Order: sequence, then structure tokens, then C-alpha cells
Amino acid sequence: MIETHGLTKHFNGNHAVEDLDLQVKQGEIFAFLGPNGAGKTTTVRMLACLIAPTRGEARVAGYTVGGESDAIRAHIGILTESPGLYEKLSARQNLDFFARLYGLSNSARDDAVKKHLEMLGLWERRDEAVGGFSKGMKQKLAIARALLHDPKVVFLDEPTSALDPEAAKIVRDFIAELKSEGHTIFLCTHNLDEADRLADRIGVMKQRLIQVDTPENLRRKLYGRRVVVRTRAVNDALIAALKTLAFVKSVEREDSRVSIALDDPDAMTPAVVRALVQAGAEIQSVGEEKHSLEEVYLNLVGNHQT
Ligand SMILES: Nc1ncnc2c1ncn2[C@@H]1O[C@H](COP(=O)(O)OP(=O)(O)OP(=O)(O)O)[C@@H](O)[C@H]1O
Ligand SMILES: [Mg+2]
Repeated sequence: MIETHGLTKHFNGNHAVEDLDLQVKQGEIFAFLGPNGAGKTTTVRMLACLIAPTRGEARVAGYTVGGESDAIRAHIGILTESPGLYEKLSARQNLDFFARLYGLSNSARDDAVKKHLEMLGLWERRDEAVGGFSKGMKQKLAIARALLHDPKVVFLDEPTSALDPEAAKIVRDFIAELKSEGHTIFLCTHNLDEADRLADRIGVMKQRLIQVDTPENLRRKLYGRRVVVRTRAVNDALIAALKTLAFVKSVEREDSRVSIALDDPDAMTPAVVRALVQAGAEIQSVGEEKHSLEEVYLNLVGNHQT
């Protein structure tokens, strides 16, 4: 649904996006992470045909950026960093206006406007001027606007940044629902937990694409896989017992926890547990260690030289 080759944007010598090669499949949620100024919004703006690339190629929804920009605009929805709504118009009038621009028929327009206002919890406030809306309400309205014409690809640039926890959850659930309907979602976010929960794959960007993979694979590439065993007491005999197992790659001891590096925890954990029990361990819990996406992200961005 999205494919780029060497996509690049320079602003007067400022290399905002450099040689981006990316593929996003239909029905995928792709989260785009990176520090402020990394080029995320610039990438979205190129893919949505709002600005022209300096060089490189991109296809979105089967159409070429540049040559077929009108077709792309008809098949995508975009939530930009600033909502860009008409403050004097009501919520309903705003959506109705944009639905007309998208060319929806009268009845389709009324249905789409009602459906989206209800879904995002704004139906009660539909006739109030948007100028009096809170930041989060405007954000929700802008999300509704991006979806009115049932686009194949949805670009969401920090959709939950202005929202309270409850509203953010509504929007996240909504994004998951869009995916289940087959929409492709390109999500820029600074909320790593959100990316971890929603995304099929994550791209980490800092002018160039640093890494792209599933959240699990990003963790494994950086940290390998480790099983953590908590026992009533850790002693040298337990550590020695673990080290006799040929497939144990390393053992780290920390208070009443032992962390064991394994290539294949699913296959190897039973033998580890047996060895520990035979050595007299009183095991309280066994589980795979899970690094937070924040650790992964900071490691990738921190170690990257541009
Ligand atoms: N219209 C513009 N004119 C000049 N420079 C620009 C323009 N738009 C973006 N830039 C520059 O391009 C770089 C990337 O900006 P961009 O907005 O894409 O970053 P971002 O990853 O979206 O950051 P953030 O997380 O803060 O939203 C920045 O150095 C920015 O100053
Ligand atoms: Mg941005």
C-alpha cells in the first residue's frame, strides 16, 4: 500500500529525509518513531502529496506520488499536526464541508458525518462552534474528518498527543478497528507504549531509517531472549547447575532473580527448570524477560550517528 525508494527531502540544505526505502502492506499498522525533527511529518507530507520530494519515488494505494497525486489524495485520509478546522462552523458543518470536498453524495454525507461524530463521542456537541472546543475535541474532529471518505490508507500524525487517557484509549481502539476493516495505517507517534500495543511493525527514523521490524524482533535483535527465574534464594550451586547446561548462553544473578540467555526459550525452559529444581531451587516464578519499547528506542536512537 505504501512503497518508497530513495525518498528524500531537503529544505535549503537541511536534510530532513534521506534515502528512505519503506514498504507497508495492506491492513498493516506501521508506527513511525523518531525524535523531534527526525523527518516523520515530512515523510507523511510527501506521501500525502502535500509537498514534493527532492528525489526518490513513492507509491501509495497503487498510485505514483507526483504523477498521480489526485488519485492518491482521493484514497488517503490524513490527520496533520494541526487540526486546521473552521472555528466559526459547528462540528457537523465542518465535517459536512469536508465530506462535500471529498465528493460524497447527500445521503452518504449525512451518514458518514453522524457515524464519525458518534464514534468519537462528539455527537452531543455537533451544533457547537468548533472555536469553543477543547484541544482534544478538535483533535477528535480532525480524526473524523480524515476518515469520512473511507480511505484505504490513513496517515495519523500524533493522533493521541492532545488527548486525555480515556480519549486516547478511544482513539487507539478506533485505530485497531480501522485495521480490522482492512485499512492501512501509518502512525507517527512519540507514545512508545501506543506503538508497542498497536503496531505490526515499527520504523525508527532519524533522517534515515535506522531500523524497521516487528516490536518483538526489535527487542530480540538488541537484547536476545532471556528467561528470568525467581527463587526463594539464589546460591552458587544453582548458578553452577545452570552453567553445566550447554545451551545456556549466559547467566546473570541479581538478588533472588536469575536471568538466563537462551536461543529458544520455548524449547529450553523446561530443562532449565529441571536443572534448577534438581539443584534444590524453590522456584517462585519463571517468565521471559521483556524489555520496554522505550529501552529499545533509546538504544537505537542513542547509538545512531547521522
Ligand atoms: N516547510 C519546511 N521548511 C523548512 N524546513 C522544514 C520544513 N518542514 C520541516 N522542516 C525541517 O525538516 C526537519 C524534519 O521535520 P519534521 O517536521 O519532519 O520532523 P518530525 O519527525 O515530524 O518531528 P516532530 O516529532 O517534532 O513532529 C526539521 O529539521 C524541520 O525543521
Ligand atoms: Mg512531526
